[in-house]
Amino acid sequence: MKEVQDMIDQLRRLEEEALAALEEVKDSAALAAWYRRYLGKPGTRTPHVLREERARHETHERDLGEKGLLTQMMRSIGELPKEGRPAFGQIANEVKAALESAHQAQAELLRRAEMEQELEQGALDVTLPGRPSGPGHLHITTQTLRQIYTIFGEMGFQVYEAPEVETDELNFGLLNMPPHHPARDMWDTFWVSDEVVLRTHTSPGQMRAMREYCPEPIRVILPGKCYRYEQVTARSEHQFYQVEGLAVGHNIRMTDLIGTLTQFARRFYGPERRVRIRGSYFPFTEPSIEVDMDCILCGGRGCRVCKYSGWLEIAGAGMVHPVVLQNGGYDPDEWSGFAFGFGVERPAMLKYCIDDIRLFYGNDLRFLRQF
Ligand code: FA5
Repeated sequence: MKEVQDMIDQLRRLEEEALAALEEVKDSAALAAWYRRYLGKPGTRTPHVLREERARHETHERDLGEKGLLTQMMRSIGELPKEGRPAFGQIANEVKAALESAHQAQAELLRRAEMEQELEQGALDVTLPGRPSGPGHLHITTQTLRQIYTIFGEMGFQVYEAPEVETDELNFGLLNMPPHHPARDMWDTFWVSDEVVLRTHTSPGQMRAMREYCPEPIRVILPGKCYRYEQVTARSEHQFYQVEGLAVGHNIRMTDLIGTLTQFARRFYGPERRVRIRGSYFPFTEPSIEVDMDCILCGGRGCRVCKYSGWLEIAGAGMVHPVVLQNGGYDPDEWSGFAFGFGVERPAMLKYCIDDIRLFYGNDLRFLRQF
């Protein structure tokens, strides 16, 4: 059995030598080489070994490693007498486990040391501040809305908010458009149910304001989003903003309406711009008008935004229809009023020379940052 004891002593010496060599290992390349020398090509290779192997492609070293010194000694078990093999095998496994675990510990130490070194060298400075995200700013629609509030505010109008989801009755019925009225075709929309729609215009807010303020005089503007089942083009969106205006009082006349709208246009666009008023039809106003601005985009020569007319319609308006006044609670023999409703994007297009309404909500920052 001396033979067995000799082999076990050799194993122990190999263990001592390997552990001493491991203490000298100072980087991952040397660690990989150590592993190959003593333990051979690992079954599950540590990241260090893998990285090293990939980096160096040193095949002869790998061949040597495949037959690590411990493995070679373990293979010699076959040469020992049968009764000595279990004792040798047990010690060999102990040595192998000890070397594997010492390797793991050293690998962790090295990983930390290398990381610290990288940090010290500034390869990765975790204290660097992140990239600043610049402050945002108001969307062009919001800016335009605020300009409109200011101008009408100075004329004594206050802002009144009404919901975007409306009943059929308020969006159409009480505005003098009973079911099947042909004028409903002008405002095809998205139906939430048989009785509920996404409002096609801000006009239903007129009814809400009248019912809230009756029997007091009214001077309000009603801003908000509207929806239409509309073909999207350079001048039309399926979702856009409107600002409604409503004045109810005694002796209010068409000239008050025209004066108010002209004053607004002068303040919003400047005194040099031209306004055109023409007769029109809305079921909830009588008489009705439409307001056009000269098209700044083509200088009046005609373009796709103004449909080659030189004018762009920005508002519908008129004297509040007696039936609508009555639905709002006001006696039309005593009270009169005017109402108007204009888009927000179209007036902004004419003010800022924007030739396509789709740019407003396309979310292209190159466009939005210009305002
Ligand atoms: C109306 O919506 C009426 N409610 C306006 C009104 C109010 C008339 C009060 C009388 C009294 P109209 O459908 O024409 O009318 O729309 C009014 C304005 O909204 C238009 O002049 C335009 O500036 C804007 N507008 C209408 N449809 C669109 C669209 N698809 N995209 C962008 N803007 C639009």
